[in-house]
Amino acid sequence: MSTLAVIPGDGIGPEVMAEVLKVHAVVEDAFGTGLKTEVLPYSADWFLEHGDVEIDIPAIGRTYGAVLLGALGDPRIPDNRHAIRIIGGLRQQLELSVNLRPVRLRTLAHCPLKHVRDVGDVDLVVVRENTEDVYVGVGGTVRGGRPGHVAMEVGVHTRWAVDRALEAAFELARSRPRHRLTLVDKSNAMPSAGPLWQSRFRALAASYPDVACDHLYVDAAAMELIRNPARFDVVVASNLFGDILSDEASMLAGGLGVAPSASYDPEDTSFFGVFEAVHGSAPDIAGTGRANPLASVMSYSLMLDRMGLRAAHRAVERAVDEVLRGDLLTPDLGGTARTDEVGDLICRAIARR
Ligand code: NAI
Ligand code: MG
Repeated sequence: MSTLAVIPGDGIGPEVMAEVLKVHAVVEDAFGTGLKTEVLPYSADWFLEHGDVEIDIPAIGRTYGAVLLGALGDPRIPDNRHAIRIIGGLRQQLELSVNLRPVRLRTLAHCPLKHVRDVGDVDLVVVRENTEDVYVGVGGTVRGGRPGHVAMEVGVHTRWAVDRALEAAFELARSRPRHRLTLVDKSNAMPSAGPLWQSRFRALAASYPDVACDHLYVDAAAMELIRNPARFDVVVASNLFGDILSDEASMLAGGLGVAPSASYDPEDTSFFGVFEAVHGSAPDIAGTGRANPLASVMSYSLMLDRMGLRAAHRAVERAVDEVLRGDLLTPDLGGTARTDEVGDLICRAIARR
């Protein structure tokens, strides 16, 4: 039995996390997962009160089975350092190399591209390398004639991390019906990182003859996601491109309100990862009851899947499908329901199973 660390965070984070905890209580009742929860206080409020204290990230990895994260980001901390320290810290210090961002269209009603060919078949996963690229914090400014004249943000790509992301993507492609994997990069303009990703992709492809591979430059991939989204199965990309493409892809299925994510170390069998919605703290709607809790509930569901709690995972997935087919939805999906009403609906659907 393990304990889940729950970090509600800022803005709508605590609002959507409250619904996840309700859902977990119902899942616990129905399936007896044995997973306890413990809320950790890290948020903008906490940082403003305590200052820039270090957080013992490795201890989180040792103490808990997984982290459920709401969102972090607050206008009072404009450089976002608390979010970088917690989210970046978890991803980098716990070596959560793989970030899965599944996008599945559950009902056509929520797709803004209803007219696009085969859009109803959209079922793709973005596998994003989660620890490197321009997010490593290597860089600086060169102060020439004027302050901040030159700014550098260095993208770091190691064979170790590239291989981990690629292997996870190949394994995932192998486990899905279409067995298809697309590498997205910008190797035509990135003569250092490009060949590393390309050569490792080709090398690993030799071990996965059952996976059909192709490649797109990121600009073309951004276009293809709108023009012919059903062509994609698993998409693998470095940190920055994966970040951007997964937000874009989420729109196909209804937007950030239904976009979940899982970040994990594929080799760690005791810490299952960090599970959080793709969206941020949405300060524009915080406190209004308009936040869609489904993305966080779906992230919780990814955690159940990763922990091997398949029956519980399937029950939550069915409940999400059922709610999305109905019309009690939050405003981002065209409804008028409140965050807690959608959470209650999910709970009832699970309990009725
Ligand atoms: P955001 O994802 O918070 O919001 C973008 C837009 O989507 C807003 O209009 C918001 O109202 C809407 N939205 C987001 N989640 C929603 C939900 N569950 N239901 C309904 N509507 C939703 O991104 P933004 O505005 O760029 O960033 C706000 C803050 O969040 C910033 O401080 C940013 O740094 C932080 N952030 C944190 C992330 C994290 O915790 N992993 C990820 C992305 C941003
Ligand atoms: Mg993002």
